[in-house]
Amino acid sequence: MPQKTIKTTTCGKLYLAGEYAILTPNQVAIIKDIPIYMTAQVSPSKDFQLSSDMFDYSVDLSDDDHYALIQESVKTMASYLKLQNKTLAPFSLQITGKMEKDGKKIGIGSSGSVTVLTLKALSLFYQLKLSKEELFKLAVYTLLKRGDNGSMGDIACIVYETLIYYRSFDRHRVKNWLLEMTLQELLEKDWGFTIKPVKTNLSFTFLVGWTKQPSISSQMIKKVQASISSSFLSTSKKEVDDLYVALETGHKEKTKKSLSTLGQLLEDLHPSIYSPQLRALKNATYQLDAVAKSSGAGGGDCGIALVFDDRSRLEIIKRWEQENISLLYQEKVRGLHDK
Ligand code: PMV
Ligand code: MG
Repeated sequence: MPQKTIKTTTCGKLYLAGEYAILTPNQVAIIKDIPIYMTAQVSPSKDFQLSSDMFDYSVDLSDDDHYALIQESVKTMASYLKLQNKTLAPFSLQITGKMEKDGKKIGIGSSGSVTVLTLKALSLFYQLKLSKEELFKLAVYTLLKRGDNGSMGDIACIVYETLIYYRSFDRHRVKNWLLEMTLQELLEKDWGFTIKPVKTNLSFTFLVGWTKQPSISSQMIKKVQASISSSFLSTSKKEVDDLYVALETGHKEKTKKSLSTLGQLLEDLHPSIYSPQLRALKNATYQLDAVAKSSGAGGGDCGIALVFDDRSRLEIIKRWEQENISLLYQEKVRGLHDK
């Protein structure tokens, strides 16, 4: 039986490009890790105990609506342990780090991150060596069972903990496989996704502006889904691929062009994506050496900016403040060959 207490974390994430398109199989997106973390601690215990600072009570393994995602992740781990001829020894799991500010969600996490966190923590507790791909598949398996309607790009980024290029797989096909195959077979099967780290060769400051208006992605998806056309998909794919090359080759003008085209594409996709604040967040780059767009589902939450000089950086932050958009996070990204 495992004896040691372990502690681990998962990061936040934000979409740079490819939102909504990525819901369709074989589309692509670029998603950035955000180093704001959730933490899990697992200790040996006589009985199973699950607690999260999201709720003011703890549970065991008997079904609870609030803890359903964590409990489903524990079930996935139990099935995985069975494959290794191991059993689910009792533990106490504590999750902290709500990714909130002033009681409002900040939109860099996702309901899915708790699944990755639970699986990652339990794999350490039971001393299993999960590859990143296995952790991704186990998390997706758990979320598909719960009927999640997302592209799983968030999960890919949270598992790899870096800026990634993600090509999505056919979730309906994998969902059918869940009914027909064992977990072992599922893990061995090629699902048809690509996840690769992006090696940036461009230097810029990455800014995150928070609108303080919470938005729920699953609801946004339901609203927007019917507007996704094949021309939206082909333009999005081309621009995300161009953006990937521009970042890897350190091409500033191409990076700016692709990001602003992708932002416009989202703005034209559905009126609910660019809330007045997200429009203001984007327009704050006017006549500056920078590009900005909404991030993720839109309708609130966050937007991002890539800024190429310090005067522009300070000016954008000031303009955002005037629009009641707060700077949530900033990071200096250095191109690999940059000094
Ligand atoms: O708002 P976020 O960060 O949860 O991103 C949602 C991105 C969508 O493409 C709209 C949905 C998805 O699951 O990919
Ligand atoms: Mg969001």
